[in-house]
Amino acid sequence: MKQFLWGSATASYQCEGAWREDDKLESMWDHYLHEFQLENGDVASDFYHRFDEDLKMAKEGGQNSFRFSLSWPRIIKNPQGEVNEKGIAFYRSVLKACHHYGLVPNVTIYHWDLPQYLEAQGGWQNEETCQAFLDYAKVCFDYFHDLVDIWVTFNEPRWFIFNGYFIGNYPPGCHDVDMTIKGAFHVMYASALAVKVFKEGKYPGKIGIVHSYTPVNGIDETVETRIAMRYADNYCNNWVLDTAALGEIPIDMLGKLSSEGHDLSYMTPDKIAVIKHHTVDFIGLNYYARALVKPYTTGETTLIVNNKGKEGKGTSKTIVKGWFEQVSDPNTKKTEWDTEIYPQGLYEGILNAWHKYHLPIYITENGIGVSEDVTVEQVQDPYRIEFMKEHIEAILKAKEEGADVRGYYAWSAFDLYSWKNGCEKRYGLVAIDFEDQLKRKPKASYYWYKDFISKH
Ligand code: NOJ
Repeated sequence: MKQFLWGSATASYQCEGAWREDDKLESMWDHYLHEFQLENGDVASDFYHRFDEDLKMAKEGGQNSFRFSLSWPRIIKNPQGEVNEKGIAFYRSVLKACHHYGLVPNVTIYHWDLPQYLEAQGGWQNEETCQAFLDYAKVCFDYFHDLVDIWVTFNEPRWFIFNGYFIGNYPPGCHDVDMTIKGAFHVMYASALAVKVFKEGKYPGKIGIVHSYTPVNGIDETVETRIAMRYADNYCNNWVLDTAALGEIPIDMLGKLSSEGHDLSYMTPDKIAVIKHHTVDFIGLNYYARALVKPYTTGETTLIVNNKGKEGKGTSKTIVKGWFEQVSDPNTKKTEWDTEIYPQGLYEGILNAWHKYHLPIYITENGIGVSEDVTVEQVQDPYRIEFMKEHIEAILKAKEEGADVRGYYAWSAFDLYSWKNGCEKRYGLVAIDFEDQLKRKPKASYYWYKDFISKH
């Protein structure tokens, strides 16, 4: 049996910096954050120049795997699809360093940094972006197949699609249900196209998708609540996982959308057939929290994400008109960003996903975001240790009960840029002082994780 993977995770835009070095193009995030003069990832953790030090630290922390993503605008030079050899050389160096340090690379092809020239042509609203993604994915397979065994098509389709097209707090900053549905469909179609080309090309290794997994609980056992739970599960999980793993877009969800008057005519039989026949080999689950739901009562669809931390505590809200409402459990702890701390949800969620899909599972992200003073000698983060311990125990319990879980990745390997929450929402096992030359210092949790891994 293969070794269990113990790792930590990052994403290109959040850690690389070097935003226009070596002919990298502008991504939609570069464009959007510069346009609105918001905190950005121009420098981020400067992984572009310090990856060797970071990977060495992961190895010295007892880890045997590293999850990261490739930046599309670093690899493809122009709309004609010309390959940027400097971008290729960078990622080959990263991959070789992973192997040198005994870290199995777990590589995501798309973690939200779409080239801006594609966004300018409609981004995920435009079917041509799916074809462009296919071409880009093929370049990745061709240039890196000798160094990668674990591939991921997309990171968290739900999160970037809902935030970008409905909530509007991510680029392209829209508020439109039909754009949300269309963007979601195109991403799932593009993912299946990449699986298709991967299988047809007989590349070595396995390919999966990473989902922002939100197991659903109901407030009671009534039939109304159970119906609301099904709507919530379709909304939170099934449209990604059923589509990628079973090749089926939940039919009751399509029925509901259609009865609400949404035009779904672009979901043509040829595209549905691609989705049906090209399912993933494994699923990656990012787990932060579950959703506790009740039946919909009243009001318009409202999605509010607290990107303000302490100041915005308690403002998060999810109401999907005619579907369900999310409620906050008064008995559980929440972070300053309103994320509930609920390890039990991970245990139940893994078992559900295992029974439903029967595919290998990786927990591709799990962690806690907090503000921390990193000027000290060593950050003491007992809350992170407790969080990780409880969640890893939940995973091991689900594994003992038969779920085929193959790895765990702490989010994040080191402090990085947390999108609209900026650099001050810290998740890292290693502290980075963004004010003082990006110095790296392992936190107490880094050593705890090392010790935990050595005992398991
Ligand atoms: C999910 C995303 O994949 C990652 O980019 C993000 O920073 C973390 N979760 C934390 O919110």
